[in-house]
Amino acid sequence: MKNFELWNPTRLVFGENRIEEVNKHIPADAKNILLVYGGGSIKKNGIYDDVKKSLLVDRNVVDFSGIEPNPRYETIMKARELAIKENIDFILAVGGGSVIDATKFLCVAIPFTESDPWDIIKKGLGKKVKEAVPFGTVLTLPATGSEMNSGSVVTREETKEKLPFGGPLCFPKFSVLDPRVVASLPERQLVNGITDAFTHVLEQYLTYPAQAPLQDRFAEGILQTLVEIAPQVIANPGDSTLAGNFMWCCTMALNGLIQQGVPTDWATHMIGHELTALYEIDHARTLAIIGPNLYRVMFNNKKDKLVQYGERVWSITEGSEEDRAQATIERTVEFFHSMGIKTRISDYTEDHAEVVKTITSRFEERKWVGLGERGDITLEKVQEIVEMSI
Ligand code: NZQ
Ligand code: ZN
Repeated sequence: MKNFELWNPTRLVFGENRIEEVNKHIPADAKNILLVYGGGSIKKNGIYDDVKKSLLVDRNVVDFSGIEPNPRYETIMKARELAIKENIDFILAVGGGSVIDATKFLCVAIPFTESDPWDIIKKGLGKKVKEAVPFGTVLTLPATGSEMNSGSVVTREETKEKLPFGGPLCFPKFSVLDPRVVASLPERQLVNGITDAFTHVLEQYLTYPAQAPLQDRFAEGILQTLVEIAPQVIANPGDSTLAGNFMWCCTMALNGLIQQGVPTDWATHMIGHELTALYEIDHARTLAIIGPNLYRVMFNNKKDKLVQYGERVWSITEGSEEDRAQATIERTVEFFHSMGIKTRISDYTEDHAEVVKTITSRFEERKWVGLGERGDITLEKVQEIVEMSI
């Protein structure tokens, strides 16, 4: 196991009806609160009313709605203008990963005056920024883990770039996880959430053995739980017990815990983000397209962990190590298919003639020429993975 330092300051408030408590987690001296949300689902399912009811009357609450899935820099800059005008001292994000990620960028962009706030992302200044407006979240979609981590992914419409950033000031002060929010999720978002969380675990587990048996068991525990509850949650999202377990899996998959002391990959995410930027394919679906092909192309690197994952999560024990590792990849694809997730780029768009060239030239420009846990996912490998995925 490698050396590590674990720090996660987010207070997690889990359980049914806990949205009612949101006010008490916001600092008492915060007077001007910006309520950030998406396209309006929270108005239909009652979450907006619950949040509003909780906020004290002596607070000035200003709404900013319209954060889109795969949040846009251009929209966040409008929120920044409003926040500065209204002298906002606390932000409450009510939504899924997109609303929370947008809020993370907003909180560091508000006090950033040195240059265009896009530089925070483009020039990798996320860890260097000294100031941020504090924020909390009410999670409405279990998937990304954004509610308990300091990462964010923002898209710039103008250039069709989707880029990650993050830093210590981007942890939420608190996140409310009320399983009741799952009831109104469309099946598309439920299966996206399961697939995203599942792949988050694989990015941090499906690498090479690192003498970290506890992290392995944490990771396998999340995978097994997701496999077990996925069909039940899809069939019955209104069951708060199932929904709560699903939520907890998603948070645990990317709150920093399971990656401590072990190698991580993340190349599936980096390639997947390009597919969303180019074709607006849902984030989770890009992972189901790319992940299995990445495991095929990087088979020798990942064989030992594929065998372990296959045995412990899918009970694959027959045949040679090679056969078992291959069968494990196929089983993973079947899992995605069983939830109705399609796993080829051409299932989503006909406009893919330039996809390989566009992705490899972007990666080359950004000097992303050695991704993965061993830094050996070269541009040639990326090309092979994307070609296989069409
Ligand atoms: O906009 P509204 O009206 O709220 O509707 C949303 C949106 O259309 C809807 N929704 C959310 N909660 C709902 C609901 N509909 C009914 N009932 C509810 N309770 O769901 C749609 C999708 O929402 P979105 O927030 O976009 O989904 P998700 O949580 O999957 O977030 C995806 C974004 O997170 C990024 C992705 O790249 C993508 O931009 N990620 C962030 C990560 C992080 N910060 O750590 C890690 C991930 O790997 C990922 O990259
Ligand atoms: Zn993800």
